[in-house]
This record gives sequence, C-alpha cells and structure tokens, in this order.
Amino acid sequence: MLSNFQDKVAVITGGASGIGLAVAQNCAAAGMKLVLADIEEANLDRVTVDFERDGVEVLPLVIDVSNYDAVEAMARQTIERFGKVHFLFNNAGVSGGSSVWETTLNDWDWVMGVNVMGVVYGIKAFTPIMLEQGEEGHIVNTASIAGLIAGPSMGAYRVSKHAVVALTETLYLELEQIGAKVGASVLCPAWVKTQIFTSDRNRPSGLQNDGSNDPTDPKVQAQLAEAGRSVQEDGIPPSVVADHVMDAVQNNRFYILTHPNFNGAVAYRMKDILEGNNPRNLFSI
Ligand SMILES: NC(=O)c1ccc[n+]([C@@H]2O[C@H](COP(=O)([O-])OP(=O)(O)OC[C@H]3O[C@@H](n4cnc5c(N)ncnc54)[C@H](O)[C@@H]3O)[C@@H](O)[C@H]2O)c1
Repeated sequence: MLSNFQDKVAVITGGASGIGLAVAQNCAAAGMKLVLADIEEANLDRVTVDFERDGVEVLPLVIDVSNYDAVEAMARQTIERFGKVHFLFNNAGVSGGSSVWETTLNDWDWVMGVNVMGVVYGIKAFTPIMLEQGEEGHIVNTASIAGLIAGPSMGAYRVSKHAVVALTETLYLELEQIGAKVGASVLCPAWVKTQIFTSDRNRPSGLQNDGSNDPTDPKVQAQLAEAGRSVQEDGIPPSVVADHVMDAVQNNRFYILTHPNFNGAVAYRMKDILEGNNPRNLFSI
C-alpha cells in the first residue's frame, strides 16, 4: 500500500509503451519520480523527452528484464539517483506461442524469460531494498486474464501469466506474514489497445524462429488472428487500466481485474474445477 504518491519513486518496466507508459503518466501526474526501463531505446528516448519537458524527474534505462544482471544494475542505479523506491511495476511482457506442441523452444525461452523471470528478477532485486528502507511501498506484477482462465493457443503466454498470478499471491502472503509495509497486487486485464501483438519486434536475435513453425491448425491460426483483432478493436485504453492500478496501490487491493465481462469466465473455471468438469474455452463463452 502507498497512501501518498507525492515525491515517491516509481520503477516501471515496459515503461515506454502501452500499459507501462500509461501508469508512468499517472505516477508523474501524482508527483512521483520515475525510473523507466524498456528494451526499446527509441520509444524510451521519446517518452523521456516528453516527461522532462513537463518537469518530471526521469531515469530512463535501456534494459532486457530477462537478464538478472541488468535488473540488479537497475536497482543500484535507482538508489544512486533517487535514494529510495516505493512503487515497483513489473510490467514488461511479450506475447508468443501457438499450439503447445508447435511452440518452439525459442518461444518458450523468450516468453518465460521476459514474462516470468523478468518479474522474478524485479522482485529479487528490489524487495530487499523496499523492506530495508522501512517505508510504505507496493509491488504490482502484470499478469493477464489469461493467467486466471483457460483457452486454446498461445500456451507459452498463458503458462507465463498463470505463473505470475501464483508468484504474486505467494509474494503477497509472505509480505503479509512478516508485517511488511510493502504490499503486492497482480494486474489481470483482458484486451487493452497496445502493441502487445507486435511483441516480436523485441525478440532477441538468438531466440528468433525460422518461419517454418507457424501453427498448422487453422483453428489455432484463427484464434491468434482473433486475439490480435480483439486487442486493436475491442481493447480498452491503457489509461483506464492505469487508473485501476493506481487505485489498487492506494487501497491495497490485490486482484486488479479491469474487464467485468470476463468475471463470469473466472467463476466458470473455479466451478469446473470443483465440480469435476473438463476445461472449456473460456475466451469464447
Ligand atoms: N494489451 C493487452 O491486451 C494485455 C492484456 C493482458 C496483459 N497484458 C500485459 O501487459 C503488459 C504490458 O504490455 P502492453 O500490452 O502494454 O504491450 P506493449 O508492447 O505496448 O508494451 C510492452 C513494453 O514492454 C517492453 N519490453 C518487451 N520486452 C522487454 C524486455 N525483455 N525487457 C524490457 N522491456 C521489454 C516493450 O518494449 C514495450 O515497451 C505485458 O506484460 C502484457 O503481457 C497486455
């Protein structure tokens, strides 16, 4: 929980685009100093100029969150520049994967490296600092509605997001059990109008696919196309998600659900588990 944002320090990964940028804009508007980490240097430069023009203090860092040394260096540089850290938003993420058996090992390494280990590394590098400083603080990890329900296609992405939900639930309980002033929340949006479906722009050269492993099942092809369409055409603005995030941090709310039309799908999954039903595609109910 963070009851007051003024002059506090926010660290945001994936801060140069989409949801991360929208949260950064809310943090700046609330009087916070920003550490913006992103792998896309050009976008990061552009948004840094915009923030500085508005008088916001910003430390931009070009890093790959799947590299622990880089994340640890980010924590060091944050303390060197601002002395403290109060809000950590582990948000950088990529989409990837087709049917589970056609998903390449490169897809698995890349998606799990960014979406899961990137969050693990953020927690590992920053939580001891946040606990040590003894002030109110909050960690938000970005999962997805895909971390709460089941569906076919994009298995690597779904697995990564279920992992972030479990990781953050564990973090919350461990922080609570030591009476920490640092809280935790997990962000689980459905469609948000961002660049998430062009994530391949950030895929490292060593983890590229060779093009021969595109999904062969037309249904999986259609589901991937439909997901891309939903993000662009049905997606809510990132600013709406950012408002939910700020509210959850201020009020110490753990589950940040932004799409009430998906609440029924979450309930169905729990009901199916308890009633012994087999899984169903909860993205199509
Ligand atoms: N857009 C949606 O519909 C949606 C829904 C649910 C969850 N999410 C999650 O929201 C988060 C933010 O994504 P977004 O939708 O704003 O997409 P986005 O592509 O607009 O933003 C993601 C940002 O992360 C950065 N990034 C990617 N790989 C990185 C790496 N290895 N290291 C550092 N930065 C990296 C990108 O450069 C980009 O600026 C992701 O975790 C995504 O999975 C998005």
